[in-house]
Amino acid sequence: MFANSIYVVAIWGIVLVYSSHADECSYPYRRIGKSCYLINTQKVTADTAFAICFRHGAYMANFETLEELMLMKYELKKMNTGHHFYIGGRNVNRYMSGGDWRWIKHGKMTKMAYFAFDSSEPNGSFSAPEDCLLFHGGRGYVFHNSCCDCYAAGFICEK
Ligand SMILES: *[C@@H]1O[C@H](CO)[C@@H](O)[C@H](O)[C@H]1NC(C)=O
Repeated sequence: MFANSIYVVAIWGIVLVYSSHADECSYPYRRIGKSCYLINTQKVTADTAFAICFRHGAYMANFETLEELMLMKYELKKMNTGHHFYIGGRNVNRYMSGGDWRWIKHGKMTKMAYFAFDSSEPNGSFSAPEDCLLFHGGRGYVFHNSCCDCYAAGFICEK
């Protein structure tokens, strides 16, 4: 009887450890590298995508390092949807030529430390602003800037 209850506690312990791990990255989120992403093919504007990620307790995906970026590009190419996907980069100064691109996450704005835009990108301007950022499906998932509230694409949340 005594031995039996220890067994149950031990099993219960394993289940608890397992489920607390699964919670932070459970379906529909997936772990890619060290982060937890939701790759959503539903087409919405960047502003709507921001609100959807936020309501999930998440944020639009940040790729501060080239390693994170390369892993995600690899996943997106494997999925082979051809879709574009909005991510959490944003131009915070449209007066600057080329913009000032930041990764936006929980009130922080981390400067983009590398250049992964397509040729002739970013091409927004003060008179024709394109302050949001997407992975371009037709161009091997390089970055394109995009209008934040007019063009609909898939999007990637992270938590
Ligand atoms: C930027 O370039 C894309 C094509 O590469 C074009 O569709 C878009 O209209 C251009 N945007 C501006 C503001 O010129």
